[in-house]
Amino acid sequence: MLVLHGPNLNLLGQREPGVYGSVTLDEIDRLIDREARTLHVKASCFQSNHEGALVDAIQQAWGQYNGLLINPAAYTHTSVAIRDAIAAVDLPAVEVHLSNIHQREPFRHHSYIAPIAVGQISGFGYYSYVLGLHALVHHLRGRRPPHLQESPESI
Ligand code: DQA
Repeated sequence: MLVLHGPNLNLLGQREPGVYGSVTLDEIDRLIDREARTLHVKASCFQSNHEGALVDAIQQAWGQYNGLLINPAAYTHTSVAIRDAIAAVDLPAVEVHLSNIHQREPFRHHSYIAPIAVGQISGFGYYSYVLGLHALVHHLRGRRPPHLQESPESI
């Protein structure tokens, strides 16, 4: 899995802790790595404050990764380029946000990414990444709920 963090997320821990919490990006990346191991997948995390660098990372993911977990941060609300890059590489993407963007200022309610994402998780603080990773892996594995999985006895 490729995990991308957008602009200003390198300041997590110090940046508006009332909105984004006190957990640092480094702590989030370590949590993602630990969670990925429990799911038997690999996750590489990358943060950039630059739209083009995020577009480059998405393009380079083509053929290298199976899925994308992305917090595009402010670019969520502005970036056609990031949306087009995700659509171009045709990589299943889950959009995550620490804060609940729908509870905040109107300009944060619109996401350019949401229409081309598998889904969006918003408002659970650092735990949005854990939920997002689980959702992405679940989507990729196409699993039915365990109690509904077909076994030879049930066919
Ligand atoms: C954010 C929400 C965005 O509106 C904001 O610009 C961010 C962080 C979040 O994780 O809550 O930088 O993506």
